[in-house]
Amino acid sequence: MDSILVTGNGALSGEIPIAGAKNTCLKLMCAALLTEDPLTLTNVPRLSDVTTLSTLLESLGCEVALLQNGHAMVLSAAEIKSRVAHYDIVRKLRASFNVLGPLIGRCGEAVVSLPGGCAIGARKVDLHLDALEKMGAEIELKEGYVHAAAPRGLRGARIDFPFVSVGATENTLCAAVLAKGTTVIRNAAREPDTVALAECLQAMGAQIDGAGTGEIVVDGVDQLHGTTHRVIADRIELGTYMIAPAIAGGSVELIGGERRLVGALADKLEEAGIEVGDTSRGLTVRRGNAPVKAVDVATAPFPGFPTDLQAQMMALMCTAEGTSVLEETIFENRFMHAPELIRMGAEIDVHGGHATVTGVERLKGAPVMATDLRASVSLILAGLAAEGETVVSRVYHLDRGYERLEEKLRGCGALVERVEAA
Ligand code: EPZ
Repeated sequence: MDSILVTGNGALSGEIPIAGAKNTCLKLMCAALLTEDPLTLTNVPRLSDVTTLSTLLESLGCEVALLQNGHAMVLSAAEIKSRVAHYDIVRKLRASFNVLGPLIGRCGEAVVSLPGGCAIGARKVDLHLDALEKMGAEIELKEGYVHAAAPRGLRGARIDFPFVSVGATENTLCAAVLAKGTTVIRNAAREPDTVALAECLQAMGAQIDGAGTGEIVVDGVDQLHGTTHRVIADRIELGTYMIAPAIAGGSVELIGGERRLVGALADKLEEAGIEVGDTSRGLTVRRGNAPVKAVDVATAPFPGFPTDLQAQMMALMCTAEGTSVLEETIFENRFMHAPELIRMGAEIDVHGGHATVTGVERLKGAPVMATDLRASVSLILAGLAAEGETVVSRVYHLDRGYERLEEKLRGCGALVERVEAA
């Protein structure tokens, strides 16, 4: 299995282009199932998760054609040939559970595998299923699969989510656009990914109000048509590369970055003494000579601090001046990077949903590995600031969510290379 070798090399300087957002792109791809017409997506990130979902969509009868060297795709679901999303794919990519809403919305029937376990938490799908039941679907769980049926079609309903779920909001939204009548989704996710999905659905003919607020109202229509949609910049990739110069020193321009996508992170970086500014092409992040100050962080749904940047922020806090407390409120098991950072000399005490980090002067390179995407990238960031060599194994996690990671960091002077397994 390949690994990434990072050799701490001091301050970074240069620019990094930000790719299209993985988590937006995956949901837009699922939405292609809602229409017989082609849906064209541009600014598509070239990631293994996108390939995995393409395979699933093809198994349902959706044709997927790649253009522009994989940076654009045309999805044509003229005919849905299968309504079954199999376990072999859904277990690899939880986002594939989001074919459920489009399939039942368009076909009145869907059989989708339950995603199964996940390294960062239980990640139940009860909210998705409760919402569909309220819309008139009959749901049965058999042999690890969700069997959903609405032979007379779905009908609009009032959905009050007990807490914010990005996936459940998006699945419900996709189911509601072709339902009869009005659906009101309360306590809806306000993530930019969800707003982008709503905008794409609107361009396909859906009637949606309130995306980006806690209440989304959908008036069902009879059918949707095709459109062309550009995937927004990946705010988590952006945030990750904003933390790179903060941890290693120096200054980096993030091309295509927008502060509105990462407001909570930008505020925390500024509180820690890092400069964040706008440029004509994106954002710039600069660490001056002063030490980074410890800041406390609690994850929360958007516009709060994203759970997907908690691991990277922890890496930064490992060499900050003082003690910080990081609170994870979204997933119950998302501190798996802590023991690996400790192997690099960090001082971290995890207690329940909190991690107390006491900054040390310098991290030390070590062989490390992680069990999820964001944890893996936090170890790369830590390696940038460490003395000596850090070898991060299980690189396939990184390939799920970061396109050309080594190249992008090398472009700013970092010593990062992929070591192929013998
Ligand atoms: C999305 O996951 C993202 N994935 C995650 O990104 C991200 O961490 C997460 O939102 C939170 O921002 C994609 O968009 C593909 P949730 P999702 O439903 O939709 C619980 C990454 O690194 N819950 O908002 O699965 C759940 O267990 C990934 O790119 C239920 O209990 O997240 C969690 O504790 C990882 N029942 C909380 O809600 C449900 O039915 C929020 O999860 C649904 C969720």
